[in-house]
Amino acid sequence: MEKFYVTTPIYYVNDTATIGHAYTTIIGDIIARWNRSQGKNTFYLTGLDENSQKTTDAAKKSGISDIKKYTDDMAVKWKKVWKELNISNDDFIRTTEPRHKKIVEKFFKKVYEKGDIYKGIYEGLYCEGCEAFYLEKDLIEGKCPYHKKEPKIIKEENYFFKLTKYSDQVLDHIKKNPNFILPKSRRNEVISFINEGLKDTSISRPNVEWGIQLPIDKKHHFWVWFDALINYISGAEKYWPAELHILAKDILRFHCILWPAMLISAGYELPKTLFVHGFLTINGQKMGKSLGNAIDPLKLSEKYGVDQIRYFLAREIPFGQDGDFSEEALKNRINNELANDLGNLISRTLTLSKKLPEIKGKSEIKFNIKNIEKLMEEYRLTEALNEIWRYVQETNKYINQKEPWKLEGNELEKVLYSCLESIRKVSILLWPFIPQTSEKIFYLLKIEQQKLTEFNKSISKYKPKEPIILFKKIQ
Ligand code: MSP
Repeated sequence: MEKFYVTTPIYYVNDTATIGHAYTTIIGDIIARWNRSQGKNTFYLTGLDENSQKTTDAAKKSGISDIKKYTDDMAVKWKKVWKELNISNDDFIRTTEPRHKKIVEKFFKKVYEKGDIYKGIYEGLYCEGCEAFYLEKDLIEGKCPYHKKEPKIIKEENYFFKLTKYSDQVLDHIKKNPNFILPKSRRNEVISFINEGLKDTSISRPNVEWGIQLPIDKKHHFWVWFDALINYISGAEKYWPAELHILAKDILRFHCILWPAMLISAGYELPKTLFVHGFLTINGQKMGKSLGNAIDPLKLSEKYGVDQIRYFLAREIPFGQDGDFSEEALKNRINNELANDLGNLISRTLTLSKKLPEIKGKSEIKFNIKNIEKLMEEYRLTEALNEIWRYVQETNKYINQKEPWKLEGNELEKVLYSCLESIRKVSILLWPFIPQTSEKIFYLLKIEQQKLTEFNKSISKYKPKEPIILFKKIQ
């Protein structure tokens, strides 16, 4: 069976999830569910990045001296959000787990034995928000472009990884594999960044109290990114290499340059694709806790519904680009698309279907499913969803033209068959995006689906409460 291993970044544990984190995790879930529905042996990994300096700061700030306890409490909160949003991750990796430490040590040993680690002095800038070393030229008006804060000036003894040794190999891999970094614009950005010239990366920090100790020098802890990236292996070693890493542009360089170099050095295969998506913005500003404009995904889903949020994020923000979030746009899509287009299509068809004991026939509405499959395989999710929606709208048009409420007998049966067949296909295709809704529709249609094995499981589990309301309109 073909495998498909997909990951999200592991999120910092120092705060709770925003709708920005939820965006990445929902996209990952859509892709994981799609691949499962295609019969692939799919593994979806998400988790938490716990060894950061931010963790200790946040624990102290909240008055908890036991840092591990702080991370345990936070992990419960993050898991709860993913459960609420119907995220079907197969595992949840935390970088404070022993299984992670073991793999980090094994990985480091390979890099060290390759001769790619040396001791030196790091003198320069460090942004604690990014947990990253910066060069003057990367700052905007002297500030970190993401956290809008001046980085700290540090001078300390560090262990370095010979990143420069792998510049050419990484560049070569990117050039030879057009799908290694998607979308293309991000790939070009990485290529020009490498062409500007890289520097070796510091991979350890002295004088920090939290994290994984360097096996060769216990006075040092791993710089958090070196440890964090390895989660993709420690969380699912059997599934490595990943078919897809999903991330946003803020962490592009770590994933597209450092990570491949680390993997080549340690002798691992490279992931197949890194998809770099845009930022969810509010009035054009990146949304984030440190920027004070974060939206809580749980509150939002309580107010509007989980599938409503999943649908909105996948449809409104062209996957790969930045997109603005507003409740107004969310309400419009819920009312016009989910309640009107889809909800009405189903209620009209099912109400009329009650008039006939049996409905057989041939559909008059043709679907090009191959095209949708191709878009999904190329991670053109928003386009795929637009395409699925075109069928929803076409079927509505068909009903309006045929006016089945005026028909009876064979004529009525012909029209209803076409509509039911459309709804069946649409609900299958929509399952990765709005799983609960699709499962309700399967139940309503009593679908016996063979193509998607996951379906049968969900149908048998699903016990709807009557009456089934697919989407309520929002005032
Ligand atoms: N811990 C590191 C990642 C280590 S992966 C080996 C980290 N964590 S983070 O909590 O800051 O999460 C960053 C990621 O969260 C982004 O790359 C993106 O996937 C997601 N997002 C957080 N806010 C977002 C937006 N406003 N918009 C889109 N994605 C956002 O970086």
